[in-house]
Amino acid sequence: MFILGIESTCDETSVAIVEDGKKILSNIVASSALMHQKYGGIVPEVAAREQIKVIIPTIDECLKESGLAPKDVEAIAVAYGPGLLGSLLIGTETARTLALSWNKPLIGVNHLVGHIYANWLERKVGNTPKFPLIALVVSGGHTDLILMPKQGKFKWLGGTRDDSAGEAFDKVARVLGLKYPGGPEIERCARQLGIAKRKQLIRLPRPMAGSDDFDFSFAGIKTAVVNLVNKGKDIAKESIAYEFQEAVCDVLVKKTLAAANKFNAKSIIVGGGVSANIRLRERMNKAGEENSVEVFFPDKALSVDNGAMIAAAAYYEKNLVDPLTLRADPGLHFD
Ligand code: KG4
Ligand code: ZN
Repeated sequence: MFILGIESTCDETSVAIVEDGKKILSNIVASSALMHQKYGGIVPEVAAREQIKVIIPTIDECLKESGLAPKDVEAIAVAYGPGLLGSLLIGTETARTLALSWNKPLIGVNHLVGHIYANWLERKVGNTPKFPLIALVVSGGHTDLILMPKQGKFKWLGGTRDDSAGEAFDKVARVLGLKYPGGPEIERCARQLGIAKRKQLIRLPRPMAGSDDFDFSFAGIKTAVVNLVNKGKDIAKESIAYEFQEAVCDVLVKKTLAAANKFNAKSIIVGGGVSANIRLRERMNKAGEENSVEVFFPDKALSVDNGAMIAAAAYYEKNLVDPLTLRADPGLHFD
């Protein structure tokens, strides 16, 4: 089944065509990250105005690359929340119009569920996540732990009480004078710290690492970095970036493993922009090996927002919606 997926919940505009929830025929991503670098973060109005301009050319390019004609597309899928209202509207209005004019079924997808299903894309037969599983969604807007007892069933276990992990990466990057988006910049900066220097590091807090729930808190780590920098201590930004990344990974890995052990998970899957982080991948894979739980990450390009994950989630979820009544839902939750 060929599904065309539209993603426009934040600053990216992406359209993809995916066959049977796994094979990507095309996945076009138009990013406005360069425009946002100028402001040091996302300006919702700037994002939405750019998305209006690029959505139709992105659909055209996606169809062209896939080699399919509109008549071959069997359903339209769209991420209708959570996200920025202006951005969501571009995706939902376009998807509704396409569904009506091409006469195709319309499938509504929760963006976070999309990040989860990115883990089923482009996998070899037999190499897919096994249930029950624990999903960690770590993005710019969210940090959530979810139990999936079986396909299509989600139980939200906990999430961040303040900043998301991605937000913390972005804010700390800004404090250190690095570019937006902060995640890849911190990762690059941390890698530049020589091995010898890693032994005499500053120490940042690991908030809620030991709490017996599945919640997170990242605002405190960010504040600790701000305090260090404001005190004018002579600490190289590479040291701060390295220790910050370790602190975030410590908490994410510890809590995810605790959830996996509690619910006897067969797999751990990770999704969302922060799951592109190589250090998080190393640390989670190692913890998985030590605890005999299989760990899955999407391909790096599929960790960040993309239309393919929306088309994949739509294939498994098939949440059919009426094109006349579908509404964008900025605060959409898991259950
Ligand atoms: O999932 P995503 O593309 O958009 C949202 O749904 O929010 O996630 C974006 C977030 C940003 O905060 C960005 O800094 C972070 O993902 N990110 C990373 C990396 N690549 C992107 N964080 C850490 N390491 C990375 N390599
Ligand atoms: Zn996302």
